[in-house]
Amino acid sequence: MNIKKVGVLGCGLMGSGIAQVAATAGFDVVVLEQDQKFIDKGFAGIEKSLSRLVERGPEKGGLTAEQKSQTQSRLKGTTNMQDLADCDIVIEAIIENVEEKRKTHAQLDAIVKKNAIFATNTSSISVTELMTATKRPERFIGLHFFNPVPMMKMVEVVKTIATAPEVYDTAYEFAVKLGKVPVRTSDKTGFIVNRLLVPYLLDAIRAYEEGVGSITDIDEAMKLGCGYPMGPFTLLDFVGLDTTYYITHVMFDEFKEPRFASPPLLRRLVLAGWYGRKSGKGFYDYTDPKNPVPGKFV
Ligand code: CAA
Ligand code: NAD
Repeated sequence: MNIKKVGVLGCGLMGSGIAQVAATAGFDVVVLEQDQKFIDKGFAGIEKSLSRLVERGPEKGGLTAEQKSQTQSRLKGTTNMQDLADCDIVIEAIIENVEEKRKTHAQLDAIVKKNAIFATNTSSISVTELMTATKRPERFIGLHFFNPVPMMKMVEVVKTIATAPEVYDTAYEFAVKLGKVPVRTSDKTGFIVNRLLVPYLLDAIRAYEEGVGSITDIDEAMKLGCGYPMGPFTLLDFVGLDTTYYITHVMFDEFKEPRFASPPLLRRLVLAGWYGRKSGKGFYDYTDPKNPVPGKFV
């Protein structure tokens, strides 16, 4: 199957990055959001990211100014699901909520052409549970990108027990055309990375609650001690505490193991609406984005 037109559902942290990368790779992209204001916000993020890549320059893996404008000319935002009807692949990157995802995939299934591939960027929800909301289980896969999408090379390509082999191969080749390195995995909760990463991030919160160190001490320790580009609290705020919180519930439901349970502090930050960078405050306060101030919660 030849993919030409890409639909992306959601223009948030991940949807905007996926749309940007697909447009840069030469695909026509239509991004669906529930309100124009989210498209405007997501497209502003794309503008910022593309400008950084132009500043970096093609010789260092960035872009030329021409490539930036070509990318933006291939991007279209819409709040009308009908605009996705002729897409060859639709990549869903909406809120990590199974009911919302199932409802949206079912609506799309009735509109989008029958041979289109459906992909979900879910971090933790069973791809099988999402595919059953549609009448195209054999054309449904997981394409799990990493944040920030323009910078992270890897995509987990997730097959279910129903995925048709030629659909899986088409999705795998599509990931390569996006300039990504695909990794094959199957529909197990958390796939590969989050199965290992989420317990680490939650343990960092528990270590902090137990007084092992301050937020910055723990961040610095993991950066300087293990060479991580971001410490766990910086990464949690980067991923989004709301998304992380949703992921912990899905993973705890699956494994019923304490290491996947949300620490009390994470729940309180989310209840307070402190979602991290995206809301201006999480484990750090981003009033001055260049100098985030760590919170003191214990
Ligand atoms: N778009 C374009 N360029 C970007 C960018 C973006 N979004 N983010 C960073 N860059 C560029 C910067 O312009 C900079 O380029 P120059 O060196 O030319 O100035 C370069 O990348 C480095 O950026 P920074 O100086 O801001 O900081 P950094 O060196 O730390 O790199 C980072 C930023 C690539 C995000 C790095 O911090 C990193 O890799 N962090 C870890 C991210 C991570 O772990 N992601 C996975 C999260 S888990 C997940 O995604 C799965 C899930 O389901 C939750
Ligand atoms: P986000 O909150 O930044 O964006 C979600 C977007 O979905 C919002 O803009 C919202 O308006 C939109 N949305 C919600 N319901 C919608 C609907 N019915 N139709 C259209 N748009 C709708 O979240 P995010 O961080 O981009 O996460 C999106 C998905 O990607 C989640 O499944 C998440 O688990 C996954 N993911 C997140 C990360 C990360 O680091 N944040 C990494 C990999 C995968």
